Amino acid sequence: MEKYIIKGGKKLKGEVRVSGAKNATLKLMAASILTEEPTLLRNVPNIKDVYFMCRVLEELGFKVRMENRTVEIKPHFSLKIETPYELVSKMRASIGVLGPLLARLGKARVALPGGCNIGSRKIDLHLRGLEVLRARIKVEHGFIEAEANGLVGDKISLDFPSVGATENLLMAAVLAEGTTFIENAAHEPEIVDLANFLNKMGAKIKGAGTFLIEIQGVKRLHGVDYTVMSDRIEAGTFIVAAVLTKGEVYVKGFRKDYLELVLDKFREAGLKLLADSQGIWVAEQKGIKAIDIVTLPYPGFPTDLQPQVMVLLSLADGTSIITENVFESRFAHVEELKRFGCDIETQGHHAIIRGTNKLNAAKINATDLRGGAALVLAGLVANGSTQVGEIHHIDRGYEHFEQKLRGLGADIIRQKDSKFAAAERPLLPSQPWL
Ligand code: UD1
Repeated sequence: MEKYIIKGGKKLKGEVRVSGAKNATLKLMAASILTEEPTLLRNVPNIKDVYFMCRVLEELGFKVRMENRTVEIKPHFSLKIETPYELVSKMRASIGVLGPLLARLGKARVALPGGCNIGSRKIDLHLRGLEVLRARIKVEHGFIEAEANGLVGDKISLDFPSVGATENLLMAAVLAEGTTFIENAAHEPEIVDLANFLNKMGAKIKGAGTFLIEIQGVKRLHGVDYTVMSDRIEAGTFIVAAVLTKGEVYVKGFRKDYLELVLDKFREAGLKLLADSQGIWVAEQKGIKAIDIVTLPYPGFPTDLQPQVMVLLSLADGTSIITENVFESRFAHVEELKRFGCDIETQGHHAIIRGTNKLNAAKINATDLRGGAALVLAGLVANGSTQVGEIHHIDRGYEHFEQKLRGLGADIIRQKDSKFAAAERPLLPSQPWL
């Protein structure tokens, strides 16, 4: 129940540091269930989804403490097997506790996950894969109930390289008896980060980042101190913000090779980008050429940057087509973008974007996390004062979004409604956040 007020037209200038990756952090937190020893995660972003995951772990019996972007997770009480609906229904990534709970405790009862409003987002591949590892699974009354008398390694072939399913199965297989092969595995960088984390804990995983992952089960894992990878989607979002405002911005602290295709597409659109060992310099742009984008599993163009790039192409010279292949309905932001004067038509999973010269400020609502970020980007370049409502979606995944934008010179403020802000407080972990 907070909103952003943005006065558009300010050129962004300066440098911005990318935070730790949301999608990696949440899975590493879930993976900490796999050990009896404390886990220390560094470079953890201060975002709502991380708070949700802290609460999920606390509900399971862990003591969780966050200080200066470091999260410490220690088993505290005797562990529970059930994650409550109130938390899990708010965040899809909480399905990631299913594999670890099953591997560590032999039982799990996890509420069906919620999350961003971007399609039906099935979990059949997670469940079928766990069944291959000999779990018995029932889905009843909104809960997944899973049991196993010891998981057993086997060959799992995924119909689609699902990120969440690959991660869940990886986390289950590390403590299974024998060897597991995951074929047609997703190979997003966040999966490599998870495998590195698990290997540091003592797991034996080979091939993460390729189509075939081999996991040799081990008896136990130990606690580790691990630094989370940086957020490639946040990096891409700031690059788009800089380009849109004809700014000059250095986006630093992320691995450029994880954004390779995105940067190639940006160059195809005529953007001037300079890479160095720490990040990307965005120079003042002269114009944007229309290009076509097709979202695909990594190393394809990431669906999580599709809404932001749609704003960019709305100001391009010519007509672009975006084809969304990962989620079946990830165009909720289109109707809101049209309020800025964007000329976008959707046909099934295609969006046809006719470039225009200027956008006009609008009163709009964030529809989901990345769609919400795209609306903020449109507000930064639109003429007049834009109001973005429902920004709780953006808070799920962007650390200090408006502060970072203000640091670059954007005119953006958050308007709080104290009545609602108080109601949100219980989401924070009950342990002191020092
Ligand atoms: C993760 C990311 C999300 C990103 C997405 C794709 C997290 C917390 N979220 O989501 O930001 O947009 O990867 O890069 O890491 N599917 C099935 N059955 C399944 C699982 C998935 O049909 O069992 C389908 C989904 O409905 C969707 C597609 O596969 O259409 C991709 O989903 P998946 O790769 O699993 O994405 P998530 O892990 O949910």
